[in-house]
Amino acid sequence: MTNTRLAAGPDRRFRSDVISGLSLARKRLPSKYFYDAAGSRLFDRITRLPEYYPTRTELKVMRTHAPAMAARCGPRCQLIELGAGTPTKVRLLLDHLEDPEGYVPVDVSGAHLREAAAALAADYPTLDVEPVVADFTAPFDVPDGRAERRVAYFPGSTIGNFDPPEADALLRRIARLVGPGGGLLLGVDLRKDVNILERAYNDSAGVTAEFNRNLLVRIDRELGGNFRASSFRHLAFYDAAQSRIEMHLVSDAARQVRVGSSTFDFRAGETIHTENSYKYDVDELAARALDCGLRLEERWTDDRGYFAVLYLTATGLDRSEEE
Ligand code: AVJ
Repeated sequence: MTNTRLAAGPDRRFRSDVISGLSLARKRLPSKYFYDAAGSRLFDRITRLPEYYPTRTELKVMRTHAPAMAARCGPRCQLIELGAGTPTKVRLLLDHLEDPEGYVPVDVSGAHLREAAAALAADYPTLDVEPVVADFTAPFDVPDGRAERRVAYFPGSTIGNFDPPEADALLRRIARLVGPGGGLLLGVDLRKDVNILERAYNDSAGVTAEFNRNLLVRIDRELGGNFRASSFRHLAFYDAAQSRIEMHLVSDAARQVRVGSSTFDFRAGETIHTENSYKYDVDELAARALDCGLRLEERWTDDRGYFAVLYLTATGLDRSEEE
């Protein structure tokens, strides 16, 4: 359900992000806007596609190693989930945590949060569920508790949507949030055969294409645009130099598009860059994380090495702050 009248603040932000992204020489739109109600449903369908291995692989890793992950978190921890859209994964963890002090789901969508929090509270009656409505890419406050340790949970390789400098900034903020001795349980998609990667973002049922184009449907509806999504083609490919899947929308012809009172010119074949999905090498990521004040303690992966869940500890040392 969308109510654009009541959501005046976020709506203005959406509009200005869209206008500035489309004004760039290389047109770009932020991937975080994929997830309106329709987009979230489409993403749910993506997670069940035969070609899209990440979600089921991460779930398998979680199912197999949840007891060891919970042991790393330790007794009486406060679990802080960043972007709490996947209650299935955190349940696997909650089922094994020893006397958790609380569960703090953090999400920009208040509606989303209330739903997830209510469902969890019903199934875990003794658990203190304290949702925080916030954009986790900016600093936010978490309720204080008597927790032994804070542990951030950041599953789904969502970190892959951030360019390296942004991802590092986020890791630094997480290290500060959990404090020295605190933890980060991080899900990351790993580098692999390019064909497997590209198939995961070019499914034969065309769901990813629809997910990508839904961004334009959303702009047309919410911002008074006339993209007409069907005239843009889905393009997804792996860029090995940057270790990332890039998603684009390609205009099949030269055209002018209006968004509210602004107009944008497209050349035939011109693209809008809609998403990056970085693929990681664990050792490389561990080296970067250490610079951000997080030391890799343990890694869990599937048999094929497609996806990893990492446990990192905040060291209290952030090289960027030392210098
Ligand atoms: C939710 C960001 C992890 O990058 O694989 C799926 C989003 N985009 N198919 C990903 C997505 C196209 C997904 N993440």
